[in-house]
Amino acid sequence: MSQPTRDVRRPLLFECAWEVANKVGGIYTVIKTKIPVTVSEYGDRYCLIGPLSYKSAPMEVEPEEPTDPFLRETIESMRAKGVILLYGRWLVEGAPKVILFDTGSQYSRLDEWKGDLWNLAGIPTPPNDHETNEAIVFGYIVAWFLGEYVSRQLNKAVIAHFHEWQAGVAISLCRKRHVDVTTVFTTHATLLGRYLCAGSVDFYNNLQYFDVDHEAGKRGIYHRYCIERSSTHCADVFTTVSHITAYESEHLLKRKPDGVLPNGLNVIKFQAMHEFQNLHATAKAKINEFIRGHFYGHYNFELENTLYMFTAGRYEYRNKGVDMFIESMARLNYRLLKSESNTSVVAFIIMPAPTQSYTVDALKGQAVTKQLRDTVTEIQNRIGARLFDHAIRSNGEHGTLPSPDKLLTEEDNVLLKRRILALKRNTLPPVTTHNMVDDHNDPILNQIRRVQLFNNHNDRVKIVFHPDFLNSNNPILGLDYEEFVRGCHLGVFPSYYEPWGYTPAECTVMGIPSVTTNLSGFGCFMQDLIERPQDEGCYIVDRRAQSVEESVNQLTDHLFTFCSKTRRQRINQRNRVERLSPLLDWKNLGIEYSKARQLAIRRAYPDAFYGPEGANGVEDEWEFGGSSLGLGAERMGLPSVPASPRFRGTATPGDIGTLTEEMQALVTNDYRGGYQWPGNIDEEDAYPFPLV
Ligand code: UDP
Ligand code: G6P
Ligand code: GLC
Repeated sequence: MSQPTRDVRRPLLFECAWEVANKVGGIYTVIKTKIPVTVSEYGDRYCLIGPLSYKSAPMEVEPEEPTDPFLRETIESMRAKGVILLYGRWLVEGAPKVILFDTGSQYSRLDEWKGDLWNLAGIPTPPNDHETNEAIVFGYIVAWFLGEYVSRQLNKAVIAHFHEWQAGVAISLCRKRHVDVTTVFTTHATLLGRYLCAGSVDFYNNLQYFDVDHEAGKRGIYHRYCIERSSTHCADVFTTVSHITAYESEHLLKRKPDGVLPNGLNVIKFQAMHEFQNLHATAKAKINEFIRGHFYGHYNFELENTLYMFTAGRYEYRNKGVDMFIESMARLNYRLLKSESNTSVVAFIIMPAPTQSYTVDALKGQAVTKQLRDTVTEIQNRIGARLFDHAIRSNGEHGTLPSPDKLLTEEDNVLLKRRILALKRNTLPPVTTHNMVDDHNDPILNQIRRVQLFNNHNDRVKIVFHPDFLNSNNPILGLDYEEFVRGCHLGVFPSYYEPWGYTPAECTVMGIPSVTTNLSGFGCFMQDLIERPQDEGCYIVDRRAQSVEESVNQLTDHLFTFCSKTRRQRINQRNRVERLSPLLDWKNLGIEYSKARQLAIRRAYPDAFYGPEGANGVEDEWEFGGSSLGLGAERMGLPSVPASPRFRGTATPGDIGTLTEEMQALVTNDYRGGYQWPGNIDEEDAYPFPLV
């Protein structure tokens, strides 16, 4: 496939995923947050490819005409053959080019393409699996697009980077059809891993023994598994997001990844350190408002002494560790009661599940508190007017003060009493904010019933299950997810299966401590880099080497210890957590993506590197990563002062993110490694501004 005529120094990059401009879970976060560093490296040589969702596309994409003549011709030719697509700029930071294909416009070819997939790759497909049908049509359109494009654009090397099996069909097609692109496949989980862990299998101790075809067949996902495995083997470079998933991929997909590309975030540094602390306080005030409404009639706890803990993500009961979350909350409740602690905890579960509507009770709670607040404001205004009127009529120093019963009239009293009576309630505050479609069989609700966390008067741990993602337009809990996280005190993610886990990573960059496990990619990443992560506000529960009972107890201990912290300690801990954010910044982690792409180019065009041309200096002139990817302290805007968190030996994202020797050879001048940290934060002297 090697075509030395193509320019390998300034390659073009297409990045393709089902979650491009189409939010489902963490893959959307990977792609979206990585755009600024990718654009800084590739500029207009970068273009994303995704499915066209008519619901979200109008909000996500600004249509535009392509300026690249090869792209224009390709698009015109495909449109002439009936492909409906949207080309434009994705309206996110970095505003990259994006092409969204309408799979529906080519469903008439589904059977033909399924037959072709069988002949070409031996992949069988059943008739009624909608997700697989989508993956096939999408894959064929993308391979068609890439094939046409590189037959027109003959001067530049083209890298096509695909994420997850839903985008993988095109990889196999490009390989079989000898399309002159070099491919990278990044998997964010394995299908079998997700399915096996969701059942009751001892997954990690049996990884090397599973009969993969048999297990996939038993779960009705053999065809999907074939697509995933074929994508893995046909890609020039295969990568995943963490070491734990690399190990799993080696056994379940039968290829050792070439490298690990840890997930980053687009870290925004505030000018003043206390800025994010202020954001915590304002967001917490909004959650307080919700709590007053939700617990009306039973609002017998002090918000000053209440901590907000939460778990969030796609509804995967066992994989996301919700079972462990609820069990530990029940034990925490018991321990807080027994120790007569004056701390209360509200434990939120934010996980979308099928619902019919909000519950009347949840809506009523917000309505009665709003009415009470409006009435109090009204009365307050009237009292103010009376006070003013009385004062202005007074006669200089001989003036009298109004008597209190004149200020609050009979009418005010009646109005206020009516509002207070409306706060009377015969039921307990609801556990869930929505009417669930399958209330009786819902695993979360059933576990809450089992441990009897019903928001009783004397419970120290209250539960709120919000079975939908958050949104600031929501009439009940009206905050965006980010704002909600900022307002909370602790994120709790005791996952059993979690290739990476953005939710705790997002907590970290927002300065909110979190609990995760050593079965999550993120947890292992932090454990690899930091000597005592719990001292920095990253608690890691051991779910590998101890029993479930021991893990639950360990989690409960962490939660209980957290509850005994003073406000000052919490503030300091937030400062420490927030200082870890450079570890998760794409400006530092983006280098791993650059390495993977470079490896792909080397594998596709070896002559350009190792042949006579390579000897002529291609390597020396290599454009690698762009200047923004360096790790120097000045570039990260950090002063060069001694380190505070204790890091393990030589670890840097660069050297933990490599598996094969070939990858390790790809170290560049631009990559310097090593983090610089602001000065030590000591418990007592760390707080540079007054404590409230
Ligand atoms: N998330 C969200 N709204 C919510 C809860 C979660 O947008 O109300 C996002 C969260 O910010 C995160 C993603 O969902 O980026 C979940 O990603 P993660 O990697 O934790 O899990 P996945 O769903 O991919 O398994
Ligand atoms: C931030 C604010 C402080 C506030 C504190 C509350 O640090 O800057 O003004 O007192 O949050 O912290 P807490 O952990 O009690 O929510
Ligand atoms: C997957 C994994 C999650 C990971 C995300 C992004 O959906 O479940 O752990 O964070 O992809 O890589």
